[in-house]
Amino acid sequence: MCKAKAIKNLKPRRSVLYMPGSNARALEKGRSLPCDALILDLEDAVAPEQKQTARQLVCQAVQEGGYGYREVVIRINGFDTEWGLDDLEAATKAKPHAILMPKVSSANDLWKVAELMEKQGVSGEIDLWIMMETPKAILAAKEIAETIPHLPCNVGAIVIGTNDLAKETGAKLVEGRQAFLPWLMSCVATARVAKIDVIDGVYNDFSNSEGFLKETEQGALLGMNGKTLIHPKQIAVSNDVFSPNQEEVEWAKKVIAAFNAEENKGKGALQVEGKMVERLHAEQGEKVVAMAECLLERG
Ligand code: COA
Ligand code: MG
Repeated sequence: MCKAKAIKNLKPRRSVLYMPGSNARALEKGRSLPCDALILDLEDAVAPEQKQTARQLVCQAVQEGGYGYREVVIRINGFDTEWGLDDLEAATKAKPHAILMPKVSSANDLWKVAELMEKQGVSGEIDLWIMMETPKAILAAKEIAETIPHLPCNVGAIVIGTNDLAKETGAKLVEGRQAFLPWLMSCVATARVAKIDVIDGVYNDFSNSEGFLKETEQGALLGMNGKTLIHPKQIAVSNDVFSPNQEEVEWAKKVIAAFNAEENKGKGALQVEGKMVERLHAEQGEKVVAMAECLLERG
């Protein structure tokens, strides 16, 4: 068994690739791309006149399967649009791993989608993922975090929508993302309070590999579990940046071994190779090792 499964909610979500639900070629390609998760989009990447077609294509693709280890997520339209409720109904029937609710801005928004999923009898088998991408969501971060554990369905991840945040606030999405840093960290804190994953926003300039690497590394430094992607050529870098490297795994093993040693049984703080470590570092280390083993097992 993958050891990561023994640690609650530990799943690789390093690379989460969006694709327009209306793009049959992309839906097919998703079956062989090396990303950890796919978001089959019915919302912003689909033009109004393509909404019905996209819904059909996506649900058919999910029912046909063939996506292997990849988590398959359907992003539906909001309930303030003419498509949202029908999307939810069709998506729950197709049985993806998760449904992604866009523009969640309050506890009420969460309850609404969670209760609809419960009514459709899928709360035990389909996870809910949520987008934080409105100024209201940022201001309601505490309320959102504290609501998540009480919902009648499992919430798997927060996905950050930086393009919508830029549109709604007027802040510019430039290299370094200075204006976004407080909001990104609010999303990280929300996810940690709720004990779920948080996936960074997309990098639009997909031909700029240097800029993409910098922003992906920034996301990892901020504490993200992975990044949402828009193009297959972004997958390898994101997988690499969000995988524990050999040095981190070896260090984690040393810290765990130090706390497991008989002579250190009663100690809360130790030194390993001249550095202070506490039991919380051993706990962090367990996650690093479990994730590395999970990825190794997958090959
Ligand atoms: N998922 C799966 N496959 C994708 C893909 C994606 N997101 N983006 C591109 N591809 C495929 C193309 O189908 C093409 O496949 P092929 O050559 O084997 O036929 C290959 O990758 C190369 O694509 P390319 O020609 O470089 O790009 P494009 O012009 O076809 O598409 C975009 C460019 C931006 C339109 C496309 O990448 C895209 O739609 N991205 C996702 C947008 C999205 O979902 N946004 C919503 C959230 S922000
Ligand atoms: Mg959006």
